[in-house]
Amino acid sequence: MKSFLTLAAAALPFLHGADAFWRMNCAVIQTGRVDPLVNPGTVAAHAHSIVGGSNIGVNSTYASMVNSSCTSCELRSDKSAYWTPLLYYQYPNGSFFEVPHGGSVVYYLARGPNVTSIIPFPPGFKILSGDKSARSYDNETLTWGNAAYPGRPIADRVSFACLPASGPEPPNQPYMFNVTSCVDGMRAQIAFQACWNGVDLYKSDNSHVAYLSGIDNGICPPGYQHQLPMIFVETNYAVSQVPNATDDSKFVFSQGDPTGFGFHGDFINGWDMAVQTEAVNTCLFNGAPDGVVQECPVLNADDTNGYAQNCPEQPPQVDEPVRGLIERLPGCINITYGPQAAPAASMACAATVAKPYITPTPDSTPLPTASPTPGAMFGLPLQQYMGCYNDTLGGSGYYRTLNSVEYVNYTNMSVEFCQAYCMSLGYTLSGVEYAQECHCDNEINPTAVAALNGTVNSCTWSCGGTLTAGGTQEFCGGLGFIDVYRNTNTSFVPFGDNSNTAGNAQPYTPAGGFGSNYLGCYSDTPGQLRTLPGASVPDGWNNMTIEVCAAFCAQSGGYQYYGLEYASQCYCGNEIVPNSMLLTPTTSPTNDTCQMRCKGSEPEVCGGPGVMSVYNNTAYIPPIPPAIVTHVGKYGTKACVTDPNSNGRPLQGGYTTGTNMTVEVCVKYCLGQYYHYAGIEYGVECYCGNEIVASSGGVYASCNATDEMLCPGNNFEFCGGRGFMNVYYSPDL
Ligand SMILES: *[C@@H]1O[C@H](CO)[C@@H](O)[C@H](O)[C@H]1NC(C)=O
Ligand SMILES: *[C@@H]1O[C@H](CO)[C@@H](O)[C@H](O)[C@H]1NC(C)=O
Ligand SMILES: *[C@@H]1O[C@H](CO)[C@@H](O)[C@H](O)[C@H]1NC(C)=O
Ligand SMILES: *[C@@H]1O[C@H](CO)[C@@H](O)[C@H](O)[C@H]1NC(C)=O
Ligand SMILES: *[C@@H]1O[C@H](CO)[C@@H](O)[C@H](O)[C@H]1NC(C)=O
Ligand SMILES: *[C@@H]1O[C@H](CO)[C@@H](O)[C@H](O)[C@H]1NC(C)=O
Ligand SMILES: *[C@@H]1O[C@H](CO)[C@@H](O)[C@H](O)[C@H]1NC(C)=O
Ligand SMILES: *[C@@H]1O[C@H](CO)[C@@H](O)[C@H](O)[C@H]1NC(C)=O
Ligand SMILES: *[C@@H]1O[C@H](CO)[C@@H](O)[C@H](O)[C@H]1NC(C)=O
Ligand SMILES: *[C@@H]1O[C@H](CO)[C@@H](O)[C@H](O)[C@H]1NC(C)=O
Ligand SMILES: *[C@@H]1O[C@H](CO)[C@@H](O)[C@H](O)[C@H]1NC(C)=O
Ligand SMILES: *[C@@H]1O[C@H](CO)[C@@H](O)[C@H](O)[C@H]1NC(C)=O
Repeated sequence: MKSFLTLAAAALPFLHGADAFWRMNCAVIQTGRVDPLVNPGTVAAHAHSIVGGSNIGVNSTYASMVNSSCTSCELRSDKSAYWTPLLYYQYPNGSFFEVPHGGSVVYYLARGPNVTSIIPFPPGFKILSGDKSARSYDNETLTWGNAAYPGRPIADRVSFACLPASGPEPPNQPYMFNVTSCVDGMRAQIAFQACWNGVDLYKSDNSHVAYLSGIDNGICPPGYQHQLPMIFVETNYAVSQVPNATDDSKFVFSQGDPTGFGFHGDFINGWDMAVQTEAVNTCLFNGAPDGVVQECPVLNADDTNGYAQNCPEQPPQVDEPVRGLIERLPGCINITYGPQAAPAASMACAATVAKPYITPTPDSTPLPTASPTPGAMFGLPLQQYMGCYNDTLGGSGYYRTLNSVEYVNYTNMSVEFCQAYCMSLGYTLSGVEYAQECHCDNEINPTAVAALNGTVNSCTWSCGGTLTAGGTQEFCGGLGFIDVYRNTNTSFVPFGDNSNTAGNAQPYTPAGGFGSNYLGCYSDTPGQLRTLPGASVPDGWNNMTIEVCAAFCAQSGGYQYYGLEYASQCYCGNEIVPNSMLLTPTTSPTNDTCQMRCKGSEPEVCGGPGVMSVYNNTAYIPPIPPAIVTHVGKYGTKACVTDPNSNGRPLQGGYTTGTNMTVEVCVKYCLGQYYHYAGIEYGVECYCGNEIVASSGGVYASCNATDEMLCPGNNFEFCGGRGFMNVYYSPDL
């Protein structure tokens, strides 16, 4: 998708003052030799790129334009069309390549001292500004003016800007920048006549209109006292994107103009008159001076950022190649350098090249636009519209409003398609987004938020399926916004894969749903220990849920705390490490950044990137640390005795072993055989005797806990170690 925002930001270098205006971004709707003003009903002499209403064609009228099913401009009630020449790059071998169109910006400006008397463009109104045959700057033909408002060369209606990648823009000039180095494009600009004779909607010599004395300012001449908004069109040509450009060749406009002096623009009104009238009356007389559509209520209600997708370029009406690499300019136009005006194009070409086929100009009835109100039923039976949700809160992945399933297909996407698709997969909720996406789930992400209501309508993108198939034009969300529907049919049994119990989705209620043992969302400190430093599943499991993590930590030795991070990871710990930070002391994750849905149960929340949803295992009983048993009955510890095992054992009376060995087992065995001493060695070996046999080399020593081995029959007791025994003694038997 092209971004037109950069164009809008670099607005109107030669305008001044704080006069009101609005502007809108536009994408191409039609390309080719189409010009219903100059060549109605037939192929035009040269090729244009057209933005605006989808019904533009060689026979277009106001009636057909307002009937356009859509517009490639931002304001949906403006089905007008605006066109300018195509720009070509000519290679040294003489062939041409169409310079990619980088989008247009159309301005409606209130200019001069008489702005309060501006009237809207009437139905049927058309204007052409500029002179296709000009090849030099005419400094002698001036606009009408007087002493207070002097005239100005009408050649100033055309100007060019070179947009560098960075740094200051060179000054505008009245001829084109014949270079590929305008990295962000060459912007061709044309100002239109804003003064009208009040009689003729169009005259082929454009004598029904006149320029303001200063073109972008000033007053209207006698006989043209009806002031209109001044249209100003910027067309961005992506000159830096020409492939294989060399230093020794040139750019040329489709009218055979390598200079740019012959740049021109056309306008045919296709406005919804009520909207245009209100916009002129409320936003041009005293409106916001920065051109932001959002500050003009009647236009804001109508605004969409989906214009390029809502209304893609239509198939060419004139069937001849104008794009890519072509041998000659469309219409066999010859290049003329001037400085004198170019001669009218001869029709000699027609003798050698057959007239291309022209598809009939469309005059379709507009598709009804359906926008349900939240709570209303829409689409398939029993499907209720939940509203437009902001789907940009976490970027992508497990942050979406609906998360279980995503399906993308522009050509068949519609509200009904998505509702049926989600039902077929067992989901109650369906959501359409970005004209082409369908998302399903059984619960709305607890962190999802409804989009601002009223001030901005963010779900304005037409469904790809209904747009291409005709029928009711529906909306399918927007860029980062999703229209959500719920299947209210109570006999529908959801079986989508986010269910916690087979066959039945578990509604997930964040209020209290985390339990009193939810401690909150903790942030790991980069480069330091994780919030929970114990056992972990750092690579993540697809079945991860809060319950799976709790079980994992319980089975991994038992931990006081467990935590979930990044949708599928689980961490355990007996402490929350001090350098981690509790983000919000809340029992709900909606206010913090733990917003990722658990991979194994999408209604649940499992932390986020670098943040952990931490729980306290309140059923956890801390283990008693292993220790040397001090007494078993009347036997008391005699510390440790070394066992060099070079000359027999230190205890030589009796012996037993076993995988269930404990201190108690050994003492009981020795007592049963009437020995005063019991010694446990190497975890599992039990020796008895009535003395420490000196010849064995064994001597008393203090026990070193780090060398002790756990008793296999009781993990909280030590049972000697390698080369020494824990010795117990009783003087009585
Ligand atoms: C127009 O430009 C020419 C050439 O620069 C100059 O001789 C002439 O005086 C100018 N005419 C006006 C009206 O400025
Ligand atoms: C301002 O507009 C009104 C109404 O069209 C017209 O009568 C008047 O002459 C205009 N004034 C100027 C200075 O053009
Ligand atoms: C540019 O050059 C490449 C490589 O020679 C060639 O494949 C391509 O067709 C050329 N493109 C144009 C528009 O000349
Ligand atoms: C455009 O630039 C090329 C290459 O420098 C040059 O040959 C050509 O004459 C220029 N065209 C115009 C109209 O200045
Ligand atoms: C272009 O020039 C050639 C030769 O000068 C001429 O035959 C042809 O008619 C011209 N084409 C147009 C459209 O004027
Ligand atoms: C333009 O209108 C004329 C007159 O109604 C009609 O004959 C012609 O077929 C139309 N052309 C196209 C391309 O629609
Ligand atoms: C999109 O849907 C159309 C119409 O059902 C189908 O023909 C096409 O194969 C689908 N495309 C993809 C990528 O699934
Ligand atoms: C959508 O959410 C983003 C991120 O929090 C926020 O910047 C934006 O203003 C929200 N837009 C609307 C229309 O709610
Ligand atoms: C959204 O706005 C409409 C119209 O103003 C209103 O009826 C509806 O209740 C609002 N919805 C919400 C969720 O605020
Ligand atoms: C979850 O998945 C992991 C890895 O595939 C597996 O080891 C574990 O047993 C599973 N746990 C449950 C409760 O299904
Ligand atoms: C949500 O966060 C904000 C900003 O940190 C805080 O002022 C507010 O009290 C928090 N709300 C809850 C319910 O924790
Ligand atoms: C976790 O639970 C235990 C047992 O209920 C309690 O002693 C401990 O203070 C809790 N930890 C935190 C951080 O709340």
